[in-house]
Amino acid sequence: MMKKIIVANWKMNPATLQEAKQLFNSIKKSIKNIKNTEVVICPPFVYLPNIKSQISNIKLGSQDCFWENSSTNRGAFTGEISPSMLKNLGCQYVILGHSERKQHIGETDEMINKKVEVVLKNNLRAILCVGETKKEREAGQTKKVLKKQLEKCLKKIIGLSNRQLANLIIAYEPIWAIGPGGPCSVSEALENILFLKKIIARNFNQKIGKNISIIYGGSITSQNAFDFLKEKEINGVLVGSASLKADEFASITKQAQKI
Ligand code: 13P
Repeated sequence: MMKKIIVANWKMNPATLQEAKQLFNSIKKSIKNIKNTEVVICPPFVYLPNIKSQISNIKLGSQDCFWENSSTNRGAFTGEISPSMLKNLGCQYVILGHSERKQHIGETDEMINKKVEVVLKNNLRAILCVGETKKEREAGQTKKVLKKQLEKCLKKIIGLSNRQLANLIIAYEPIWAIGPGGPCSVSEALENILFLKKIIARNFNQKIGKNISIIYGGSITSQNAFDFLKEKEINGVLVGSASLKADEFASITKQAQKI
Protein backbone atom coordinates (compact mmCIF):
# COMPACT_ATOMS: atom_id res chain seq x y z
CA MET A 1 0.00 0.00 0.00
CA MET A 2 1.17 3.56 -0.74
CA LYS A 3 2.55 5.51 2.21
CA LYS A 4 -0.15 7.74 3.69
CA ILE A 5 0.62 11.46 3.58
CA ILE A 6 -0.39 13.55 6.59
CA VAL A 7 -0.08 17.27 5.90
CA ALA A 8 -0.38 20.04 8.50
CA ASN A 9 -1.56 23.36 7.09
CA TRP A 10 -0.92 25.84 9.87
CA LYS A 11 -2.46 28.65 7.77
CA MET A 12 -1.67 32.08 9.35
CA ASN A 13 -0.70 30.53 12.72
CA PRO A 14 0.77 30.58 15.32
CA ALA A 15 1.19 34.25 16.22
CA THR A 16 4.88 34.17 17.21
CA LEU A 17 8.07 32.42 16.19
CA GLN A 18 8.48 31.12 19.71
CA GLU A 19 5.07 29.42 19.57
CA ALA A 20 5.85 28.02 16.13
CA LYS A 21 9.07 26.45 17.42
CA GLN A 22 7.27 25.07 20.46
CA LEU A 23 4.52 23.55 18.37
CA PHE A 24 7.00 22.01 15.97
CA ASN A 25 9.11 20.57 18.80
CA SER A 26 6.08 19.07 20.52
CA ILE A 27 4.91 17.45 17.28
CA LYS A 28 8.40 16.14 16.59
CA LYS A 29 8.61 14.61 20.05
CA SER A 30 5.19 12.99 19.85
CA ILE A 31 5.74 11.35 16.47
CA LYS A 32 9.30 10.17 17.00
CA ASN A 33 8.49 6.56 16.25
CA ILE A 34 6.21 7.05 13.28
CA LYS A 35 7.12 4.80 10.38
CA ASN A 36 5.88 4.38 6.84
CA THR A 37 3.95 7.63 6.94
CA GLU A 38 4.92 10.87 5.25
CA VAL A 39 4.41 13.73 7.69
CA VAL A 40 4.57 17.22 6.18
CA ILE A 41 4.37 20.47 8.13
CA CYS A 42 3.48 23.65 6.25
CA PRO A 43 4.08 26.69 8.46
CA PRO A 44 3.82 30.33 7.33
CA PHE A 45 6.79 31.37 5.15
CA VAL A 46 8.44 33.45 7.88
CA TYR A 47 8.91 30.45 10.19
CA LEU A 48 10.41 28.16 7.57
CA PRO A 49 14.11 28.95 8.18
CA ASN A 50 13.78 28.37 11.92
CA ILE A 51 11.91 25.15 11.54
CA LYS A 52 14.19 23.90 8.82
CA SER A 53 17.13 23.67 11.15
CA GLN A 54 15.14 21.32 13.35
CA ILE A 55 13.78 19.02 10.69
CA SER A 56 13.88 15.34 11.56
CA ASN A 57 11.59 12.69 10.16
CA ILE A 58 9.17 15.46 9.27
CA LYS A 59 9.12 17.00 5.79
CA LEU A 60 8.73 20.70 5.29
CA GLY A 61 6.21 22.40 3.01
CA SER A 62 4.99 25.90 2.24
CA GLN A 63 1.42 27.12 1.83
CA ASP A 64 1.97 28.86 -1.50
CA CYS A 65 4.69 30.16 -3.81
CA PHE A 66 5.03 32.45 -6.82
CA TRP A 67 5.00 31.30 -10.46
CA GLU A 68 8.41 32.71 -11.41
CA ASN A 69 11.76 31.50 -10.13
CA SER A 70 13.47 34.88 -10.29
CA SER A 71 13.02 38.44 -11.52
CA THR A 72 12.81 38.17 -15.30
CA ASN A 73 12.07 40.31 -18.29
CA ARG A 74 8.44 39.67 -17.38
CA GLY A 75 8.97 41.76 -14.26
CA ALA A 76 10.12 42.05 -10.66
CA PHE A 77 7.78 40.65 -8.05
CA THR A 78 7.63 42.56 -4.78
CA GLY A 79 6.54 40.42 -1.86
CA GLU A 80 6.65 37.08 -3.65
CA ILE A 81 8.54 33.88 -2.75
CA SER A 82 9.93 31.64 -5.49
CA PRO A 83 10.02 27.83 -5.57
CA SER A 84 13.82 27.86 -5.74
CA MET A 85 13.96 29.93 -2.52
CA LEU A 86 11.75 27.37 -0.85
CA LYS A 87 13.89 24.52 -2.10
CA ASN A 88 16.95 26.27 -0.74
CA LEU A 89 15.32 26.25 2.71
CA GLY A 90 14.72 22.52 2.53
CA CYS A 91 11.06 22.62 1.51
CA GLN A 92 9.92 19.60 -0.43
CA TYR A 93 6.19 20.31 -0.69
CA VAL A 94 4.11 23.32 -1.73
CA ILE A 95 0.36 23.62 -1.15
CA LEU A 96 -1.22 25.40 -4.12
CA GLY A 97 -4.66 26.81 -4.87
CA HIS A 98 -6.08 26.62 -1.38
CA SER A 99 -9.71 27.80 -1.43
CA GLU A 100 -8.93 30.49 1.16
CA ARG A 101 -6.45 32.06 -1.27
CA LYS A 102 -9.05 31.98 -4.02
CA GLN A 103 -11.69 33.48 -1.73
CA HIS A 104 -9.70 36.19 0.06
CA ILE A 105 -6.87 36.99 -2.33
CA GLY A 106 -8.51 36.39 -5.68
CA GLU A 107 -6.18 33.65 -6.83
CA THR A 108 -7.47 32.22 -10.11
CA ASP A 109 -7.16 28.79 -11.70
CA GLU A 110 -4.88 30.37 -14.35
CA MET A 111 -2.48 31.60 -11.65
CA ILE A 112 -2.61 28.24 -9.90
CA ASN A 113 -1.83 26.51 -13.18
CA LYS A 114 1.36 28.54 -13.60
CA LYS A 115 2.34 27.77 -10.01
CA VAL A 116 1.78 24.03 -10.39
CA GLU A 117 3.96 24.05 -13.50
CA VAL A 118 6.89 25.88 -11.92
CA VAL A 119 6.73 23.84 -8.71
CA LEU A 120 6.84 20.56 -10.63
CA LYS A 121 9.63 21.86 -12.87
CA ASN A 122 11.63 22.53 -9.70
CA ASN A 123 11.11 18.92 -8.65
CA LEU A 124 9.10 19.95 -5.62
CA ARG A 125 5.90 18.14 -4.73
CA ALA A 126 2.79 20.21 -5.51
CA ILE A 127 -0.32 19.67 -3.38
CA LEU A 128 -3.05 21.10 -5.58
CA CYS A 129 -6.29 21.83 -3.71
CA VAL A 130 -9.62 21.42 -5.46
CA GLY A 131 -13.14 21.45 -4.08
CA GLU A 132 -16.69 22.66 -4.53
CA THR A 133 -18.64 25.27 -2.57
CA LYS A 134 -21.79 24.48 -0.60
CA LYS A 135 -23.89 26.13 -3.31
CA GLU A 136 -22.28 24.10 -6.09
CA ARG A 137 -22.76 20.89 -4.13
CA GLU A 138 -26.41 21.64 -3.46
CA ALA A 139 -26.94 22.38 -7.15
CA GLY A 140 -25.54 18.93 -7.98
CA GLN A 141 -22.53 20.45 -9.76
CA THR A 142 -19.69 18.93 -7.74
CA LYS A 143 -18.26 16.73 -10.48
CA LYS A 144 -18.59 19.39 -13.13
CA VAL A 145 -16.76 21.88 -10.91
CA LEU A 146 -13.98 19.44 -9.98
CA LYS A 147 -13.41 18.50 -13.60
CA LYS A 148 -13.20 22.15 -14.63
CA GLN A 149 -10.78 22.99 -11.82
CA LEU A 150 -8.50 20.11 -12.78
CA GLU A 151 -8.61 21.02 -16.45
CA LYS A 152 -7.72 24.65 -15.75
CA CYS A 153 -5.14 24.07 -13.01
CA LEU A 154 -3.32 21.30 -14.86
CA LYS A 155 -3.46 22.71 -18.38
CA LYS A 156 0.20 23.72 -18.63
CA ILE A 157 1.68 20.59 -17.13
CA ILE A 158 0.71 18.18 -19.87
CA GLY A 159 4.16 18.42 -21.47
CA LEU A 160 6.13 17.67 -18.31
CA SER A 161 8.06 14.44 -17.89
CA ASN A 162 6.52 11.49 -16.07
CA ARG A 163 9.10 11.98 -13.32
CA GLN A 164 7.98 15.58 -12.80
CA LEU A 165 4.30 14.65 -12.98
CA ALA A 166 4.83 11.98 -10.34
CA ASN A 167 5.34 14.83 -7.85
CA LEU A 168 1.75 15.97 -8.21
CA ILE A 169 -0.63 15.36 -5.30
CA ILE A 170 -4.26 16.46 -5.31
CA ALA A 171 -6.04 17.52 -2.13
CA TYR A 172 -9.79 17.15 -2.33
CA GLU A 173 -11.04 19.85 0.03
CA PRO A 174 -14.79 20.46 -0.23
CA ILE A 175 -15.00 24.13 0.75
CA TRP A 176 -18.16 23.61 2.81
CA ALA A 177 -16.36 21.00 4.92
CA ILE A 178 -13.46 23.26 5.94
CA GLY A 179 -13.57 24.67 9.48
CA PRO A 180 -16.91 24.77 11.29
CA GLY A 181 -18.78 23.35 8.28
CA GLY A 182 -18.11 19.83 9.55
CA PRO A 183 -16.50 16.96 7.64
CA CYS A 184 -17.69 15.44 4.42
CA SER A 185 -18.80 11.82 4.79
CA VAL A 186 -16.17 9.25 3.90
CA SER A 187 -18.36 7.83 1.15
CA GLU A 188 -18.85 11.22 -0.49
CA ALA A 189 -15.11 12.03 -0.24
CA LEU A 190 -14.26 8.64 -1.70
CA GLU A 191 -16.68 9.02 -4.57
CA ASN A 192 -15.19 12.39 -5.53
CA ILE A 193 -11.61 11.20 -5.09
CA LEU A 194 -12.26 8.26 -7.41
CA PHE A 195 -13.80 10.68 -9.88
CA LEU A 196 -10.69 12.90 -9.74
CA LYS A 197 -8.43 9.90 -10.35
CA LYS A 198 -10.56 8.91 -13.33
CA ILE A 199 -10.41 12.40 -14.85
CA ILE A 200 -6.64 12.55 -14.50
CA ALA A 201 -6.20 9.15 -16.09
CA ARG A 202 -8.61 9.98 -18.93
CA ASN A 203 -7.72 13.61 -19.69
CA PHE A 204 -4.08 13.88 -18.72
CA ASN A 205 -2.00 10.81 -18.24
CA GLN A 206 -3.21 7.28 -17.68
CA LYS A 207 -0.16 6.19 -15.72
CA ILE A 208 -0.16 9.26 -13.46
CA GLY A 209 -3.91 8.94 -12.97
CA LYS A 210 -3.49 5.38 -11.79
CA ASN A 211 -0.73 6.18 -9.32
CA ILE A 212 -1.57 9.69 -8.20
CA SER A 213 -1.98 10.40 -4.49
CA ILE A 214 -5.22 12.14 -3.63
CA ILE A 215 -5.67 13.25 -0.05
CA TYR A 216 -8.75 14.56 1.77
CA GLY A 217 -9.00 17.83 3.73
CA GLY A 218 -11.81 19.41 5.74
CA SER A 219 -12.48 19.14 9.50
CA ILE A 220 -10.11 16.23 10.07
CA THR A 221 -9.61 15.37 13.75
CA SER A 222 -8.15 12.44 15.66
CA GLN A 223 -11.74 11.16 15.95
CA ASN A 224 -12.46 10.86 12.22
CA ALA A 225 -8.99 10.54 10.63
CA PHE A 226 -8.94 6.75 10.70
CA ASP A 227 -12.24 6.47 8.80
CA PHE A 228 -10.67 8.35 5.89
CA LEU A 229 -7.18 6.86 6.12
CA LYS A 230 -8.40 3.27 6.14
CA GLU A 231 -9.69 3.70 2.59
CA LYS A 232 -7.07 2.48 0.13
CA GLU A 233 -7.94 5.20 -2.41
CA ILE A 234 -7.65 8.06 0.11
CA ASN A 235 -3.91 8.55 0.26
CA GLY A 236 -3.75 10.86 3.25
CA VAL A 237 -5.24 13.90 4.92
CA LEU A 238 -4.69 17.67 4.87
CA VAL A 239 -5.26 18.99 8.37
CA GLY A 240 -6.03 22.61 9.29
CA SER A 241 -7.02 23.60 12.82
CA ALA A 242 -6.28 20.18 14.36
CA SER A 243 -2.65 20.54 13.23
CA LEU A 244 -2.19 23.44 15.65
CA LYS A 245 -2.53 21.13 18.65
CA ALA A 246 0.52 18.88 18.92
CA ASP A 247 -1.28 15.99 20.67
CA GLU A 248 -4.18 16.07 18.29
CA PHE A 249 -1.97 16.16 15.20
CA ALA A 250 0.27 13.41 16.57
CA SER A 251 -2.79 11.31 17.23
CA ILE A 252 -3.93 11.81 13.60
CA THR A 253 -0.55 10.64 12.28
CA LYS A 254 -0.77 7.60 14.55
CA GLN A 255 -4.09 6.63 12.96
CA ALA A 256 -2.18 6.03 9.75
CA GLN A 257 -0.02 3.48 11.56
CA LYS A 258 -3.04 1.33 12.35
CA ILE A 259 -3.71 0.50 8.73
P1 13P B 1 -9.73 22.40 8.81
O1 13P B 1 -9.01 21.10 9.12
O2 13P B 1 -9.53 23.43 9.88
O3 13P B 1 -11.14 22.18 8.43
O4 13P B 1 -9.00 23.03 7.53
C1 13P B 1 -8.83 22.23 6.42
C2 13P B 1 -7.95 22.93 5.48
O5 13P B 1 -8.30 23.95 4.92
C3 13P B 1 -6.61 22.36 5.26
O6 13P B 1 -5.97 22.94 4.18
